Amino acid sequence: MILDFGGQYNQLIARRVREQGVYCEVWPYHRAMEKLAELRPIGVILTGGPNSIYREDSPHLDPEALRQGVPVLGICYGIQAMAYALGGHITTPETQEYGKTETWFDTASLLFRDLPANGVSWMSHTDYVDQLPEGFRSTARTASTPVAAMECPECGLYGLQFHPEVLHTENGSAMLKNFLYRVCGAKGDWTMEDYAKTAVAALREKIGDKQVLLALSGGVDSSVCAALLSRAVGDRLTAIFVDTGLMRKNEGDEVEAAFAGMPIRFVRVNAGERFLSRLKGVEEPERKRKIIGEEFIRVFEAEAKKLGRVDFLAQGTIYPDVIESGLGDAAVIKSHHNVGGLPDYVDFREIIEPLRLLFKDETRALGLELGLPEYLVRRQPFPGPGLGIRVLGEVTAEKVRVLQDADAIFREEMAKAGLDRKVDQYFAVLTGTRTVGVMGDGRTYDYTLALRGVTTTDFMTADWARIPYEVLERCSGRIINEVRGVNRVVYDVTSKPPATIEWE
Ligand code: XMP
Repeated sequence: MILDFGGQYNQLIARRVREQGVYCEVWPYHRAMEKLAELRPIGVILTGGPNSIYREDSPHLDPEALRQGVPVLGICYGIQAMAYALGGHITTPETQEYGKTETWFDTASLLFRDLPANGVSWMSHTDYVDQLPEGFRSTARTASTPVAAMECPECGLYGLQFHPEVLHTENGSAMLKNFLYRVCGAKGDWTMEDYAKTAVAALREKIGDKQVLLALSGGVDSSVCAALLSRAVGDRLTAIFVDTGLMRKNEGDEVEAAFAGMPIRFVRVNAGERFLSRLKGVEEPERKRKIIGEEFIRVFEAEAKKLGRVDFLAQGTIYPDVIESGLGDAAVIKSHHNVGGLPDYVDFREIIEPLRLLFKDETRALGLELGLPEYLVRRQPFPGPGLGIRVLGEVTAEKVRVLQDADAIFREEMAKAGLDRKVDQYFAVLTGTRTVGVMGDGRTYDYTLALRGVTTTDFMTADWARIPYEVLERCSGRIINEVRGVNRVVYDVTSKPPATIEWE
């Protein structure tokens, strides 16, 4: 169990734990006692947090949580919360220690067993423990911090002032692994193969002989959700795939092909013309988003109505959307990542979210486990409104075709150059700008197409990808030659912020 004090790395810790084959859940610190009783974890990790322990409104740990006989590892603010709860003292030094810091370890500690005696660790807090709680000893130090780690092995309590979960900390994963396996005695039985079996059994039990309905967008989450439900209940699943006509080239057919072999009821609605007619004359990006989102729901509803009442509506919500922050009870939901909210007029009894415990990388792994093709599972993020917001200004059938063709060439060349796994998101944008060119002996007056590629971990900030000139050159040459309507190609060299990833 991960107890969250509101740190920026809370999800990262959870992912690192799961990467070691150990299941974990993230809960806010103030639910410690209730969740300890309910989940009966083999160990607890306290996360970092932005606070200073002696501030009035700082979050505190219930000391009872440390006396349950369950091993606890406090990280960053977590070590301070642990020390404070047990009568230690924390100080705010005059000089800060921040970033990569040379650290010396006591390798007799179970946490540092079989690891080098010194190395770089990542510090990201000003405060540190200067008086250990009774029964504790220091097991790591830096030039300015006498307690970079502490422990009381007899009581199963450990703390690290630095962040083992970030890659800048040398051997950080090995330290977490030591905690999980050597201290907590983990078995390492969290695999997607096992998860698929358990989830299928649970879904069968829950759904029984009733009907489930799913809106399939073609994205990774809803596709994996469909594959899982297909294995669990077969044709009691109806998956409605609304093809907006605003997907990438051939994507509609690819989605259909992926589900053709499954025993589900797959309904494809080709609604491209309907979307285009609703978008006619509309230039403003937010209006386009709204129209596309609403239209999606209307098409889905119309199709769902034909089924009459269904018992379950399935959604591909994944864990990052579910995790509650330690500093508030509200679930973190990026609303613009859902296509258009819940349908109002679909008659269903209950929502089921079979992926709500999985991270994105686990969702992908599960998809592969369930036999979905790589191209579907490895698909890069694609906005719900699709090419509707990548054709700038008014969307027409012709512009969508030009963009689809150009984007397909860009993707093909990126894959050929082996960059498709290195650049996190990349796509073409059809700008509304037309410029003068010369082709053969004639003057042209055609569209400017922009290519965009970014590297990012969270899509909240991003850097423009340094795609080699040769690759850009090939893309530009091919696009101009093969796609009619484009006579100029530019590459976007703006990071986010100040720009966003999409142009609209
Ligand atoms: P921005 O453009 O905000 O994009 O930097 C961040 C990430 O979100 C995706 N995105 C969207 N996804 N509906 C979606 O489902 C949308 O309206 C939308 N707008 C942007 C974008 O592709 C990027 O991955």
